[in-house]
Amino acid sequence: MTEMVHVSRHPLVQVKITRLRDASTGPKEFRELVADLARLLFIEASADLQVASVEVCTPLASTPGHTLAERIGLFPILRAGLGMANAILDFVPNAQVWHLGLYRDHDSLEPVEYYNKLPIRLTVDRAIVVDPMLATGGSASAVVEILKRHGVPRIQFLALIAAPEGVARMRREFPDVPLFLGALDNHLNASGYIVPGLGDAGDRQFGTGTP
Ligand code: PRP
Ligand code: URA
Repeated sequence: MTEMVHVSRHPLVQVKITRLRDASTGPKEFRELVADLARLLFIEASADLQVASVEVCTPLASTPGHTLAERIGLFPILRAGLGMANAILDFVPNAQVWHLGLYRDHDSLEPVEYYNKLPIRLTVDRAIVVDPMLATGGSASAVVEILKRHGVPRIQFLALIAAPEGVARMRREFPDVPLFLGALDNHLNASGYIVPGLGDAGDRQFGTGTP
């Protein structure tokens, strides 16, 4: 893997991904894990954020400090990306959040857009696309394509679990977009699910799976 594909080695990521995979983990814990993992991956992806110098007055003295100098846009892919974006907002509450609704057609596995709340002009310096799963890469590719068309200067993609097929597609189509992953799994099955994976990330987050 190139340096544009970052698979986290953080022990907390590994422990939480394991809980996330467990079929007996219920929706409440699943949502909490998605939120924790999103924040952990965001910390890794945002290590190079630009800051500007400011002066701050403590109760004792004035001292140099820093303020964020980049406008961040979060782009959750609905539904499953919602929990990730909400969690990252805790760290960067002034980030803009733009919603894109895509679902994978069950037969073709192609993404189908059903909701687009992007503005005419995107005014962010860095776009962070968040989705728990990077499987075939169809959904990720469609979103990055839209952001590129809007002229977003810098795009990063965060996923909790990825398949080699999706990573290869993103590398091929968007070699300038770094991927920040919680885990890189083995393969996709015939239905396009990541193996071992965690099942359907949207259904597990929102309790909509068939029992
Ligand atoms: C899942 C997941 C990604 C997509 C990944 O969404 O959250 O968006 O599949 O698959 P791909 O890489 O092959 O495109 P899904 O279509 O199940 O919609 P949901 O979030 O509404 O459950
Ligand atoms: N979407 C999911 O939610 N899970 C997968 O394994 C693949 C796509």
